[in-house]
Amino acid sequence: MKTSVISVQHPMDPEDLRLPGQALARGAIVAFPTETVYGLGASAFLPEAVSEIFRLKGRPADNPLIVHLLSADWLDQVAETVPDLFWLLYEAFSPGPLTFVMPRRSEVPDIVTSGLHTVAVRFPSQQAARALLQAAGVPVVAPSANLSGRPSPTRARHVLDDFAGRIPYVIDDGPCEVGLESTVLDLTADPPRILRPGKITARQIREKTGIEVEGWPDSIAEDQLVHPSSPGMKYRHYAPGARVTIVLPEQGQSIEEAFSARLENSLQPAGLFLSEASWEQIRGNLPVMKVYTYQGERGRAGAMHSLFDALRTLDEMGVREIMAEGFEGEEASAYMDRLTKAAVEPRQHRRALFVCEGNTCRSPMAEAIFNDRFAGSGTRASSAGLSVIAGQVMAVQATEALAEWGIELANRPSRQIRARMVREADLIVTMTESQRARLRHFFPDVEARIYAMSDFLEGIEVSDPYGQAIHAYRRVRDQLGSAMQKIFDRLILI
Ligand code: TXA
Ligand code: MG
Repeated sequence: MKTSVISVQHPMDPEDLRLPGQALARGAIVAFPTETVYGLGASAFLPEAVSEIFRLKGRPADNPLIVHLLSADWLDQVAETVPDLFWLLYEAFSPGPLTFVMPRRSEVPDIVTSGLHTVAVRFPSQQAARALLQAAGVPVVAPSANLSGRPSPTRARHVLDDFAGRIPYVIDDGPCEVGLESTVLDLTADPPRILRPGKITARQIREKTGIEVEGWPDSIAEDQLVHPSSPGMKYRHYAPGARVTIVLPEQGQSIEEAFSARLENSLQPAGLFLSEASWEQIRGNLPVMKVYTYQGERGRAGAMHSLFDALRTLDEMGVREIMAEGFEGEEASAYMDRLTKAAVEPRQHRRALFVCEGNTCRSPMAEAIFNDRFAGSGTRASSAGLSVIAGQVMAVQATEALAEWGIELANRPSRQIRARMVREADLIVTMTESQRARLRHFFPDVEARIYAMSDFLEGIEVSDPYGQAIHAYRRVRDQLGSAMQKIFDRLILI
C-alpha cells in the first residue's frame, strides 16, 4: 500500500482534507496531527476499521481508545449520560488536551471501549484535526500513531517510521504543540480522578473551574501497576532501544552540574536531552557527544514539546544510553510520568514462538537466527510446525544457509505445535498470513499475540523453500534476518 502524505497548507483550506475525511468515514485508517501527539484514526462506529488499528499498532485488546469529537453536539452519539461537571470543564478546557471518561452508550462498539461501561472522549483543538473531523462527519477513535511501546509520534515523520506502506493517509501539519498525550479525567469517579497525567493538571482545573479533582500521585503506587484504572498505564511505553536515565539535580546542584557528574559514569556512547542554554554551559568541557537540545532556557514546556522526538532521534543515532533532564513538581508530573516509563528496563525472560508448516525449514531457521542474535538478552525463541510429518528432520540446505552466517543449527526432529506452546509464548510469529489466520482461529484467547512475518516485513510473506536449491533457503534466511530486530522489539515491549 502506498501511503499518501497530505501536507497542510497555511492558511488552511478545509477542502484539502475532504478526501481523507471521506475515506475515514468509509473505513480507511488516517493518521492526523492533534495538539498533543499524532493519532491513528478510524471511524468509531466501524468495528472492522477499529480492529485494524489494534492490529497495526500491536496494541493489547484490553486497552480502550479515545473517541475524538468535533464539539459537545456530537456527545449524544457515544455518551449515555453527561455528568453535570462536564459542562464547566468543557467550557474551560475544550477544545484542548483534556479527555473525559463518562458512561457509554451501548451503540458504541465493544472494541472501542474494550468492553468497559465507560467511553473516553476528547475534543482536539488542532486546526487540521478539526477540519478532518468536520470532513469525516463521524466520531473518530485515535490512539497515538506509534507501534505499541514506542515513543508517541509528535511529527509526521515519526508516524511514517512506524507505519509507512501500511496505512493510506498521513496528514502532516508539522510538530505537535504540546508533545505529550492528553490528560485523562474520569468523570464517573467522585471526586473526578486523573487517570493519566497531561499538560492540564489538577491545579489548573481547580484554578479555572473551582472543581476539585483527584490529581496524579507523584510516584506511581505499586498497586497501580497491577490493577490500573486506565488500562494503558500498565504497559511499558515510550521506550526507545537505548537505556534511558533521568538526570535530576540534587540539593544545591544546578542541572548542568548534575549532567556533568552523571557523564562520568555513563554507558558510552551516550546521548543527552537538555535545553540549548544548559548545553552551552557544559559543552566546553566534554568530548564530542550526541546531543538533542530544545530551544532556549531549561523549562518544562520546551522539554515536554520535544521529549518524544528526542527519544526517537537519539535512538536513531545509535547511542546506548539516553540521559534526559528531569523536573520536579506537580506541573511536571506528565513529563516525568512519560520519562519514567521510558526508563523502565525491558522485560526479561520473554518467549517467542516461530511457526511454519513442517518445522523443517523456515521456523527452525527463524528460531536459530533469533537465538543467535539476541543471545544474552534474557529472551528465547523456539519453533514448531502446524502439520509436521513424524520423523522429519531439518532440511540440509537450511543448515547450510545458516552456516554461511556462522550459525549452527542443531539437527533435532521436527516438532508439532501444541496448545501449551502457544499459550506459554509471549509472541507467536507465523511465516504466512494464512498460517496466522489458522492459528488465530484455534487460539482466539491469545489472538492479539499472534503475528505473521509480513507484519514485520512490510507485507512480504516468507514462502516455503522446501525441496528447492540453496538459493531459496538463502532468500528465506535473509528475509527472516531483516525482520528479527522488529520482532525482538515487539517481544520486549508488549
Ligand atoms: O492526546 C491523546 O489523548 C492522543 C491523541 C491522538 O488524541 N491519544 C492517545 O490515545 O493518547 P491512546 O490510545 O494512546 O491512549 C488512550 C488512553 C489509554 O491510557 C487508555 O487506557 C485510556 O486513554 N482510556 C481510554 N478509554 C478509557 C476508559 N473508558 N476508561 C479509562 N481509561 C480509558
Ligand atoms: Mg499511546
